[in-house]
Amino acid sequence: MDKLLIQGGTRLKGEIRIAGAKNSALPIMAATLLTDDYVKISNLPHLYDITTMLELLGCMGVESIIGDKLEVELNSSTINNFNAPYELVKTMRASILVLGPMLAHFGQAEVALPGGCAIGSRPVNLHIESLKQMGAQVEVENGYIKATSKGRLKGAHIFMDLVTVTGTENVMMAATLADGQTIIENAAREPEVVDLACCLRAMGADISGEGTDTIVVNGVEKLHGCSYSVMPDRIETGTYLIAAAATRGRIKVKDTRPKTLEAVLSKLEQAGAQIEIGEDWISLDMDDQRPKSVSLTTAPYPAFPTDMQAQFTALNAVAKGSGVITETVFENRFMHVHEMNRMGAQLKVEGNTVFVNGVKALIGAPVMATDLRASASLIIAGLVSENETMVDRIYHIDRGYECIEEKLQLLGAKIRRLPS
Ligand code: EPU
Repeated sequence: MDKLLIQGGTRLKGEIRIAGAKNSALPIMAATLLTDDYVKISNLPHLYDITTMLELLGCMGVESIIGDKLEVELNSSTINNFNAPYELVKTMRASILVLGPMLAHFGQAEVALPGGCAIGSRPVNLHIESLKQMGAQVEVENGYIKATSKGRLKGAHIFMDLVTVTGTENVMMAATLADGQTIIENAAREPEVVDLACCLRAMGADISGEGTDTIVVNGVEKLHGCSYSVMPDRIETGTYLIAAAATRGRIKVKDTRPKTLEAVLSKLEQAGAQIEIGEDWISLDMDDQRPKSVSLTTAPYPAFPTDMQAQFTALNAVAKGSGVITETVFENRFMHVHEMNRMGAQLKVEGNTVFVNGVKALIGAPVMATDLRASASLIIAGLVSENETMVDRIYHIDRGYECIEEKLQLLGAKIRRLPS
């Protein structure tokens, strides 16, 4: 297993470009199952999760033509297997996103039930209940969700008990080909849901209200092909900005979308960063100063994202003063805290809250990544440590951050990959 070796103590300085958003690319790739035409997707990030989704679509018979510039053309008219096997679902929970489109277009789908993971139990009951409300027959048998529909799905008025991102995406995709109107209340407002809606509209879907908590979809006879460019990754953007703030640095991130990061930029300003934004760039300058502690609570968009909680915990670990971080989206997203404490951080977990007393610098140690965003936070912790940090199990990071060590090297970090 590859490891990352980080020599801490360097202030990040320079410019990098942001990749396409993983959590937008994955549902958009699944959405290509809704049409028999070719869909061309560009600005795809170069990540393991994208390769896994390509593999999943490929094993179902979807034809793919991969271009040399991070673009792919997918055609589902060749599909011959409606099964998403456990071997792939267990490596990527987002595989559940093929459920709604397959059911809506082909009237059948079998998807392995994703299990719990390092950040929580993560059930998919709301995906299943909503599709049942749309007339699907759904059984869970032998670890598989087996769904069928006699004829087309039916539009329904769905109230989501909890805000769920992929749940909203699954139902929105299924509704595009249903008979009549579907209204999704308490829908997720995440920018990735909006990006998917824009792609579906380019494919001929009739959708409105995306970006609010009520999405209305009028089913259409069929969808057609299109070309679509995936939005920039707001979590990757935020991760580099937080890393720069933690190291008292000065960076500019390009090819991003500042409007999708308002909650994060506001917390970075509270931490002492000077932020400037343009149409598609953000610059951050700490003026060589140590960050100030910031308290925050994660919640669905537009609040502070759970996907940046771990990275901000790393920043707080070396900030001036004390802060309180509360996680309300996932029940077990604090595995990074125990690793940071091994590096000399003063973090105390009580229930869904971490109490942080900032220290001047951490002390390098061998640490282990447990999930994607925890890995990113341990890299930030390594960057603000005296001496060396070795981060193990970094396959997690390759699932969601494109060329992370190259981008950090561009910003002056002393980091290198040690192949297994
Ligand atoms: N939930 C249920 N029942 C459901 C669905 C969700 O109880 O049927 C609960 C979950 O257990 C969780 C909460 O609702 O406590 C929110 O989960 P959500 O469904 O929104 O999460 P997700 O759709 O599985 C996506 C992202 C995650 C991100 C979350 C929250 C993708 C592919 N994944 O997951 O991204 O953390 O939304 O914003 O879009 C990551 O990129 O590292 C990542 C984990």
